[in-house]
Amino acid sequence: MISEDLSVHTAARANLEESLYKQLALRISELIEHGTLRPGERVPSVRRCSLQQNVSIATVMQAYRLLEDRGMIEARPQSGYYVKIRRWTPPPEPEMWRPPPGPVNVRVSELVLQVVKAGRDPKLVRLGATLPSPELFPIRELNRTISAVSRRSPLDAHAYEVPPGNRALRVQIARRAMEAGCTLSPDDIITTVGATEAINLCLRTVAKPGDVIAIESPTFFNILQIIESLGMRVCEIPTYPRQGICLDELEQRLKCCRVKACVFTLNYSNPLGSCMPDEKKQRLVEILARHEIPLIEDDIYGNLTFGPTRPKCAKAFDKEGWVMLCDSFTKTLSPGSRVGWVAPGRFKERIEFLKFVNTAATASIPQMAIAEFLQNGGFDHHLRKIRRLYAAQMQNMSQAITRYFPAGTKLTRPTGGMCLWVELPPHINALMVYHRAMAAGISIAPGPIFSAKQKFENFIRINCGNPWSATIENAIRRLGEIIESISRERNGNGRGCPSLIHSQ
Ligand SMILES: Cc1ncc(COP(=O)(O)O)c(C=O)c1O
Repeated sequence: MISEDLSVHTAARANLEESLYKQLALRISELIEHGTLRPGERVPSVRRCSLQQNVSIATVMQAYRLLEDRGMIEARPQSGYYVKIRRWTPPPEPEMWRPPPGPVNVRVSELVLQVVKAGRDPKLVRLGATLPSPELFPIRELNRTISAVSRRSPLDAHAYEVPPGNRALRVQIARRAMEAGCTLSPDDIITTVGATEAINLCLRTVAKPGDVIAIESPTFFNILQIIESLGMRVCEIPTYPRQGICLDELEQRLKCCRVKACVFTLNYSNPLGSCMPDEKKQRLVEILARHEIPLIEDDIYGNLTFGPTRPKCAKAFDKEGWVMLCDSFTKTLSPGSRVGWVAPGRFKERIEFLKFVNTAATASIPQMAIAEFLQNGGFDHHLRKIRRLYAAQMQNMSQAITRYFPAGTKLTRPTGGMCLWVELPPHINALMVYHRAMAAGISIAPGPIFSAKQKFENFIRINCGNPWSATIENAIRRLGEIIESISRERNGNGRGCPSLIHSQ
């Protein structure tokens, strides 16, 4: 009896010990994946880690050995353990696509709606929508601020904030705009219901049904939907995956096509992730001012740079008020608060009128809370954290795609934002990949929703807004298998494509 008890106790302890070292290894691997411990940096010494984590030296040693086996850290003689520098060759980048030069009608809304609705299922591994995982928003701090402002100013919290919107928020936005090179006064700004309303109002201000709007190719599907719903047409401008639209092509198209306005996301575009260099932005603003064409600039990802300083906005070079800068706090603080804004330059009066007609006001409490959050400096701290996280997540995602996707895959290399644009081998149909991925519990965004005529048939967009985890890695592995099986069926010979990593 006694010996049986003893053996049960020993087994339980062994289990606990085992789970302890695995838990520790998992914690350290998360610090590495999130970028808190970076490649080449020393991990805490065995003794220090044992004291910090209140576990035995043997447990730490086991955890470090496990991380060594997984290729995450390496021991350096006489020095300790270091995060391993992973040598990794990224796949080639997609090339710039040249859409036909003339204006075209947009026919994409129905497909977009299907994809967006289906992607809402909470059971899915969500690699479709470009949204940060909710755990990355400062929800506790924001909720505390919401309670504080509604307690302090209960009447204001429930009153209309008629356009131009909450003044304290506009003051904060104007201050922050200096970082993007813009000199704005609070009176230059109108708050809106997200960037979506801002873009809508700008388009309705400067164009009417039948007019032609220049857009990047590929472009964010919601911009296509807005244009389609307003009965406007588009002229798709070829766009480099790194540097944004090709200005020479834009100039050519302006000669042969009466463009009424442009809608461009110049900083970390969606889906390409391209970022136009600041000198090129200046040239763009000059070209459009010469033609008296308004630029609706969507800067929703501008704050999500991976580098030390954020890129400028085209608005920074706007001397004559042709740039209408739109932005929101959707990607940084809270998508559901629906707080956005527009600095519409010379079109301010008309936008203010349309804003009033459209939604009368933007909700008061979220505006008040975000104003206070910005004023207290919480935003900068939060931005520093998420920029580091998104950079690490994108790196992990790119490496996993390289590991699991077939040869012939091409991949963008954004320096900010949160999406990757993946070109699959030419014979792989992205919609087929999308349907099979959904059946396997994984959402992705298929390429055809990013163009007026549903091109980009062999492209998909992957969201990197979720913290890296085994679930995400498994989803990427599964996607690789799905692509492989489609390839096998297409070839009809039972042979899929060789893996991307082995073809390099
Ligand atoms: C480029 C771009 N613009 C606008 C939006 C919509 O922003 P909001 O939620 O502020 O309306 C998104 C959201 O994904 C986006 O990616």
